[in-house]
Amino acid sequence: MKRGSILVTGGAGYIGSHTAHLLGEQGYEVTVVDNLSRGRRHNVDPQRLRVVDIADTDGLCRIFAERPFEAVIHFAAYISVGESMHVPELYFTNNVSGSLSLLTAMVRSGVRHLVFSSTAAVYGMPAAVPIKEEAPYAPVNVYGESKVMVEKLLHWFDLVHGLRSICLRYFNASGADPEGKLGEEHEPETHLIPLLFQAILTGQPVTIFGEDYATPDGTCIRDYVHVNDLAEAHILALEWLMGGGASDAFNVGNGSGYSVREVVRAVEEVTGKKVPYVVGPRREGDPPKLVADSTKLRRALQWTPRHSDLRDIVSSAWNFEKKRSVQQAS
Ligand SMILES: NC(=O)c1ccc[n+]([C@@H]2O[C@H](COP(=O)([O-])OP(=O)(O)OC[C@H]3O[C@@H](n4cnc5c(N)ncnc54)[C@H](O)[C@@H]3O)[C@@H](O)[C@H]2O)c1
Repeated sequence: MKRGSILVTGGAGYIGSHTAHLLGEQGYEVTVVDNLSRGRRHNVDPQRLRVVDIADTDGLCRIFAERPFEAVIHFAAYISVGESMHVPELYFTNNVSGSLSLLTAMVRSGVRHLVFSSTAAVYGMPAAVPIKEEAPYAPVNVYGESKVMVEKLLHWFDLVHGLRSICLRYFNASGADPEGKLGEEHEPETHLIPLLFQAILTGQPVTIFGEDYATPDGTCIRDYVHVNDLAEAHILALEWLMGGGASDAFNVGNGSGYSVREVVRAVEEVTGKKVPYVVGPRREGDPPKLVADSTKLRRALQWTPRHSDLRDIVSSAWNFEKKRSVQQAS
């Protein structure tokens, strides 16, 4: 039974592809819009894919005219904090103007529900951890600022146009689809777990940025949330909106933090191999500890993460990485 048509922007990327897959499994009709600038064609069923840039408002309107769409899940964005501090214009153009174009197309086409990929980076260096949604916006990089700007656009599009939205502020997305077909393939990669795998596979040491933080082992602590648990949160948010729920923002994290050294240990245990690494200086703007308080999401949308164990997360990612390296070698 079909449960409605959903447009997924950025569905050829890491989190979008997992979510599109889950939507399909749950009976939704899925259309993916992706310009393939950073995503992978092989992540999407070819019949679902429309290779379109979200900046192309008319192109989006043509897709919305294909059939009645219930909602949009909006992943399409550039995601590298470091790059955003070198080429801010790229981030404001793609993430902010691109989102404005999408919202414009939605209003023109009468589509009034949107789930947005926001981020813990909207909080910057939080004064209190675990972080609650009431913490103020205080981004310390252009990437985080671009997400704050879209959250503000959404506030006004709700007030003026009645476009209702849920902002999901994710912490560290990680892991892979347990079947091993989808996983994390960023280019260049900036996320810790795949970087640790690359170090094992290439023998080139990975850098740990800082070991003198005020944390038990001196390395930064982050909240790792499995990509399928994230995908589930999107579907719950979608159903909340389609059921008449109001606009809101929710943190999405496990609520338990792991230090970089703990992640290294988990990777070594799962892979049975030593991770070659060197310790470098701290990175500017890296908070010592980022952990989500996701009580609001658990209570309002009954979200329950199923893969909160770090070894489970690392195992699923390693399973994908092994398959990927065999494919690349053949
Ligand atoms: N990965 C994380 O840990 C994390 C954490 C917090 C928030 N997020 C947010 O989640 C979303 C998805 O992240 P991801 O890790 O899957 O990234 P990703 O780079 O794997 O996927 C992004 C996708 O968007 C597409 N895209 C980019 N600009 C586009 C445009 N103008 N038009 C059409 N398609 C475009 C890319 O080709 C890519 O397929 C992003 O919005 C990101 O900011 C990610």
